Amino acid sequence: MIYHQLGKIPHKRHTQFRRPDGELYQEQLFGAEGFHGSSSLLYHHNPPTRTFKVEKGEEVKIEKWDEGVLRHHHLRTANIEEGGDPVMGRKVLLFNNDVQIGAVRPTEEMDYFYKNGEHDELLFIHEGEGYVQTMFGKLDFGYGDYIFIPRGTIYQMVFETEKNRVLTVDSTGPIDVPNRYLTEKGQFAENSPFCERDIRRPEGPVFVNREGEFEVRIKKQGRYTSYWYEHHPFDIVGWDGYLYPWIFNIKDFEPITGRVHQPPPVHQTFEAANYVVCSFCPRKYDYHPKSIPAPYAHSNVDSDEVLYYVEGDFMSRKGVETASITQHPGGIPHGPHPGKYEGSIGKEGTDEYAVMIDTFHPLHLTMEAKKLDDESYPYSWLEDEEKEKVEAEE
Ligand SMILES: [Fe+2]
Repeated sequence: MIYHQLGKIPHKRHTQFRRPDGELYQEQLFGAEGFHGSSSLLYHHNPPTRTFKVEKGEEVKIEKWDEGVLRHHHLRTANIEEGGDPVMGRKVLLFNNDVQIGAVRPTEEMDYFYKNGEHDELLFIHEGEGYVQTMFGKLDFGYGDYIFIPRGTIYQMVFETEKNRVLTVDSTGPIDVPNRYLTEKGQFAENSPFCERDIRRPEGPVFVNREGEFEVRIKKQGRYTSYWYEHHPFDIVGWDGYLYPWIFNIKDFEPITGRVHQPPPVHQTFEAANYVVCSFCPRKYDYHPKSIPAPYAHSNVDSDEVLYYVEGDFMSRKGVETASITQHPGGIPHGPHPGKYEGSIGKEGTDEYAVMIDTFHPLHLTMEAKKLDDESYPYSWLEDEEKEKVEAEE
């Protein structure tokens, strides 16, 4: 991302930098790709290595739903159970080796600090407001925010509202903005639908110098392990670099439109290993005199398409509601619902917001997804009277 600096740092990296009492600050290189990728340098008051207790925690539970059939799914995620805190309350709905997609409606507070030791996180705030307090500083969040948290970041997520809803993405590979949006030197290029001004970075003060007993719960290798420290984990007097959590709001995405229907890559917002994240935002429709604004049916043989419906009337779908997830697996075509293709002609624009996640390897559904499944969805492309016939035959 963009270079950022908070707090106090020494002029030269890897040189003596002393606390007021004369002791050395403890430098830490924070990177996610060996020593060659983006990184930040952090200066701790205490050695970040000094734990006094390592404690075994729960296993991460992801139970696969073996349905034994290839079909389209509609998950009524609006009905997902409320409860838990912003981390332990998360329920994974779809997953493969590259990504885990889930949701949470937290009602409880975190009384520990969390560190995802194996996944970058992208948290889309659908309902609720609050802040994420991280080792890099504070990020205030609200409706429509995509919060990016690089793996290894220690944080606590605090909601200040009662009704909260988050779409969660845990990513095996690093999440970033698409390369084609950047110049060779890493600046956002003129053709990008957003730029540096739209990226919200952590704010200070960063330094918490407090003693006590602090739990950092680490997720790694399918389980949680708690590391306990006698100093507050945000004992960082300053840092600088390119790797840190940041926020981009879906309403800051500037849609790219054309005379005829534009393909989904124009909506791309993030890129990761073997999947992409796109934002569908309010926009003017295509302006060719004979244009058809609704998408053509398409056979996504090479990817699974997941759509999360955020707000507005989604132009190509019938029967989905806010917070619904549809999954159109590779191998079978999908397209606009009856009436939506013809019906889109002459429409001037849309007020829809949706998040799309396209994975290049097939997704599995979980037993949590089964609870939200709308079984009739595969037949939703039939006219109503045909649907009744199918139901009568079953
Ligand atoms: Fe599609």
